[in-house]
Amino acid sequence: MGLYGEHVLPRGVNWCMARPEFAEQRAAVLADVAGRVLELGFGSGLNLEHYPSAVSEVVALEPSRVARRLAAERVARSPLPVVFEGLDGASIPLADASVDAVVSTWTLCTIADVESALREVARVLRPGGILRFLEHGLSPEPGVARWQHRLNPIQKLFAGGCHLNRRIDELVQASPLRLEAVEQFTMRGPRVASHLYRGTARRAPRPRTT
Ligand SMILES: C[S@@+](CC[C@H](N)C(=O)[O-])C[C@H]1O[C@@H](n2cnc3c(N)ncnc32)[C@H](O)[C@@H]1O
Repeated sequence: MGLYGEHVLPRGVNWCMARPEFAEQRAAVLADVAGRVLELGFGSGLNLEHYPSAVSEVVALEPSRVARRLAAERVARSPLPVVFEGLDGASIPLADASVDAVVSTWTLCTIADVESALREVARVLRPGGILRFLEHGLSPEPGVARWQHRLNPIQKLFAGGCHLNRRIDELVQASPLRLEAVEQFTMRGPRVASHLYRGTARRAPRPRTT
């Protein structure tokens, strides 16, 4: 990775993702997570202050060294224990059924092998555990979608592999997880990156034995 990807991009992402209207969205998506939580694409730790008190530990997976460094201050300030484990959501170095919840905010757009990542999420979740996600993706508005497809190659180049045009609901639906709920809405901001998918998917509970 060159100077831009390694140094400039994570600082730019940290600045851009700290928008106050994003903070509101973070709090909403994290409101009902509990226990041991894996956060995919932890970035600079902007979700940390929004975790509810029912969370006991955050396992942070983040490939960018600079983003991990930018997160250090937030990690130090947080009352939660945070441990860094792993670099790629498509290969999570955790045991099967070892976390209660997985969180992904603005990250499923970027993971290159997102199908494998969702399979990994299902593997590390305990039976009945949840994935909470908040992601930008393909707009239902044809005019916006057309621009998302057009601009996607440029976005991928300058935003570390981020796709503008992923159908997040379909990706989750095609995974081993059960999609329980998904809302779509559009935030303020550049229209090609402002259509959001917020939802919950669950690993099937263990079948009852009688
Ligand atoms: C737009 S940022 C979002 C950061 C953070 N989740 C947030 O809400 O502020 C996307 C993040 O995904 C990370 N990322 C890129 N490829 C990844 C991968 N294969 N697995 C996990 N995370 C990845 C990036 O380093 C970056 O921190």
